[in-house]
Amino acid sequence: MIFVLGATGKVGRHLVPALLDAGAEVRALTRDPAKARIDPRAEAVRGDLGTADLPALLDGADRVFVLTPGHNAEQEVAVAGAAAQAGVTHLVKLSTTGVYFGQKDPISVAHAEGEQAVREAGPAWTILRPGAFMDNRFAWLPSIQEEDAVYVPDTDPPSALIHVRDIAAVAALVLTTSGHEGATYELTGGEALTTRQQVDILAEALGRPLKYVEESESAAKDRLIRKFGWPAQAIDGLFALKRESAPNEHVVFDTVERLLGRPPLTFAAWARENASAYHRHE
Ligand SMILES: NC(=O)c1ccc[n+]([C@@H]2O[C@H](COP(=O)([O-])OP(=O)(O)OC[C@H]3O[C@@H](n4cnc5c(N)ncnc54)[C@H](OP(=O)(O)O)[C@@H]3O)[C@@H](O)[C@H]2O)c1
Repeated sequence: MIFVLGATGKVGRHLVPALLDAGAEVRALTRDPAKARIDPRAEAVRGDLGTADLPALLDGADRVFVLTPGHNAEQEVAVAGAAAQAGVTHLVKLSTTGVYFGQKDPISVAHAEGEQAVREAGPAWTILRPGAFMDNRFAWLPSIQEEDAVYVPDTDPPSALIHVRDIAAVAALVLTTSGHEGATYELTGGEALTTRQQVDILAEALGRPLKYVEESESAAKDRLIRKFGWPAQAIDGLFALKRESAPNEHVVFDTVERLLGRPPLTFAAWARENASAYHRHE
């Protein structure tokens, strides 16, 4: 049985059905099974990683997909240790390309610690290091819905965004076939696109023009405070991460194609799939 943490998240909600389709038995963790809409073929279990009885949750698990909320290295140490105790044979951890590039932002540093815990726990391990997700572009939803405009910090780099379904497909492969033990895979989409190119592609999928507005970092920060009520500290953290990853986001790895035997999903495909979410609020 494969135990999936983060089963309702961006990657996990695609991973659970992919594993089930591959014939695996799946246990899916969520804090609220009633709300979670987990594939009924999976065993949904309730648990909060902050307080969970890990030995009970891990009982009978052969393999574990390790994803903790908030990039929590401490929880990953606990999960990896408990998994080893429970007789788990393979841990697959979702990390970030930030570790590959040696980034020093807090998210990459926490993932580096989590990777180390998974490598040292005892069971076989595989590390998946995706770059920036296409799903991050859902942050453009409110201004598109309100005024068909996208505001982009002028420091945002070209990015080889990856579709979360490609990450899930790689995770499913690694969890259901052998030969990936001890491997670390960097995962990106197939091409780096500037933010202007991304907005043009999205406009094409929506069938209406979008205004592309570049703004300074301080204007972008003000907008996040005014429009979304983000705390200043979270915004500074986000921009620290952006600064660290900016020189690296254009780098394309061929791992998705090598592992899956097909090119990565494109941003145009993502835009078409998600176009209905961007309908205009009149
Ligand atoms: N976004 C990117 O561009 C990017 C790039 C590279 C790597 N990553 C990494 O991808 C990972 C995904 O992060 P995300 O923020 O997008 O989250 P996510 O996986 O979309 O969602 C969070 C998941 O964690 C679960 N969860 C939250 N709190 C929990 C708790 N206390 N106990 C148990 N489960 C809990 C949620 O389940 P319930 O709500 O159902 O309990 C949900 O399934 C992160 O490690 C991030 O660093 C992201």
